[in-house]
Amino acid sequence: MNDLFDRLRELLLDAGYTIDGVRERLGEVAATALSREETVPALRATRDGDPLGTLIRLWWLGVPVDAPAGLPVAELAAAGLVTSDGGRVVSTVHLQPWETGGYVVSDRKVRPGDPALRPDHVVGAGGASANLAQLVTRRPVERALDLGTGCGVQVLHLAGRAREIVATDVNPRALELARIGWALSGIRDVDAREGSLFEPVAGERFDLVVSNPPFVISPAGRFTYRESGFEADGFCRDLVRQAPRFLAPGGTCQLLANWLHVRGEDWRDRVGGWLTGTGCDGWVVQRDVQDPAEYVELWLRDAAEQGTARYRELYDGWLGWLESMDVTGIGFGWITLHDSGTLDPVVRVEELGQRVELPVGGYVDEVLGSIAAAHRLSGAELPGVRLALAEGVLEERIGPPGAEDPSQITLRQTRGLRRTARVGTVEAALAGVCDGDYPLGPLLAAIAELTGEDADDLLAKAPEAIRPLVAEGFFHISTG
Ligand SMILES: C[S@@+](CC[C@H](N)C(=O)[O-])C[C@H]1O[C@@H](n2cnc3c(N)ncnc32)[C@H](O)[C@@H]1O
Repeated sequence: MNDLFDRLRELLLDAGYTIDGVRERLGEVAATALSREETVPALRATRDGDPLGTLIRLWWLGVPVDAPAGLPVAELAAAGLVTSDGGRVVSTVHLQPWETGGYVVSDRKVRPGDPALRPDHVVGAGGASANLAQLVTRRPVERALDLGTGCGVQVLHLAGRAREIVATDVNPRALELARIGWALSGIRDVDAREGSLFEPVAGERFDLVVSNPPFVISPAGRFTYRESGFEADGFCRDLVRQAPRFLAPGGTCQLLANWLHVRGEDWRDRVGGWLTGTGCDGWVVQRDVQDPAEYVELWLRDAAEQGTARYRELYDGWLGWLESMDVTGIGFGWITLHDSGTLDPVVRVEELGQRVELPVGGYVDEVLGSIAAAHRLSGAELPGVRLALAEGVLEERIGPPGAEDPSQITLRQTRGLRRTARVGTVEAALAGVCDGDYPLGPLLAAIAELTGEDADDLLAKAPEAIRPLVAEGFFHISTG
C-alpha cells in the first residue's frame, strides 16, 4: 500500500499540485473569491484540462472532471480518493496540499446550498489548524500526542520534530482519512488510536501534547468535528485539567480554546481557574472576543447552514441557550501548560490583540521562561541580578515640542509578541545600559546619582517596576 501512496504523491507533485502551484494557478482574485465561497473565478482559471487544472477542480473545488489520459483512476479509487462514473471522475474527499509540503485528506468541503453535513464530518485543515501549528514549540521532543487529530494536519507539523507520534480521535472516519493523508505525505509509523479525550492514552506520558479540540460552545453536539457534546466550554476545561497527568517532566501542552464570558464573572478567573491546582506553569492568551450573535452566525456559516430552512430556528435556539447562561461573549485563544517541576507555579492570563511575530512556536518556550523567571525572582535577589535588554526593543518618547522631559516613554518590542510598555525614566535608563554585564544594584545606584533620586528608594521600588518587564520579555535575566 505504501508504494501506491508513494506513486500517487509523485503524481501530485509532478502536476504541481502544491501550495505554491495552486496559489499561482488560481491567482489573487480567484483565491479571494473562494474565501467568499465563490467558485466561478477558480473554475475559469482551471478550465484548460491540463493536469494541474484538473487536480485543482477535482480535489480543491470538488467538481467532477473528465478523466484525462494519464490519470490513474483505478489507483486513485483504490486509495479512496475518487470514484469514477463512465469517464467522469468524482472526488470522494477533499485533498489539499499543505504548507509543510505534505497532503491533508478530509471530507469534501461544504458550500452554501450543499446537502447538510453528516454528524461525523471530518473537517479539512484551515485557519485554526494553522494557528495551532504556528503556536506549537519548535523544540524537538521524544513523544508527542495530537489529541483530536481529525484530518491529521498537526501530525504533518510534528513529523520530524517528535520521534514518536500518537494521534487520537473519537471519530473513526477521521482516523481513516488522516491515515490516507499521512501515507500520501510519506509519514509512517503514526500510532493512531480511537477514543475520547485522554482515554486512548491512559497511563502514558508525553513531552508534547497538542490539540485543536472541538471547542465550539453550542447547545447540542451536532458535529463531532467542532462540538464535543460536553456542557458549554467544559471540553477545553477538562482537557486543561487532565493534561498534566499525561505530561512527562518538562513536558508542554498547547491547545486552542473557546471560553465563555459570563455576566458578573471575569473571564480571566474562569479560564485561569482551569489551570489552578494543575501544578503546571501556564500561559493563557485571549486573541479575540465575539458577541453571542456573531459567534452563532460564524458557526452556522461554517456548516453552510446560512439560508437553509432551519437557519432561524437554529440561530434562535443557540442564542436563547447562551442567554440562559448569562453569556455576554465568547473568547478565542491559546492555552499553554508547562510541567516545569516547580512547587510554585505561575499562570499568566492576558489579552493580545496585536499582530505577533510568527511562528510563536519559535519563541514560546522563551515566553514561558520569562513569565516563570519573573514570578520566581525575589526582591532580595534583584540587586544581584544581571539583566539584558531583549533584542529589537525600541524606545519611543513623546512630549510637547521643546520640552526638556518627555511626558511619555514607551518601550516597544519589534520582535516576538511585539508588546509595548509605558515606563518611567528609571526603567528607560536601565534599558539603555542593561547588557547583561553588571548587576542591577550598582546600575540603579548610578542611575540614582544621575537623576538625583534616592538609591535605596529606587532599589525598594525595583521589584514592582522591573518584574513585569522581565515577565513580558523586555529584559532577560543574563546567565552568562
Ligand atoms: C477542530 S477538529 C481538529 C482537527 C485537526 N487536529 C486540526 O488541527 O485541524 C477537532 C477534532 O476533535 C475530535 N473530537 C471531537 N470530540 C472528541 C473527543 N471527545 N475526544 C477526542 N477527540 C474529539 C473531532 O472528531 C475532530 O477531529
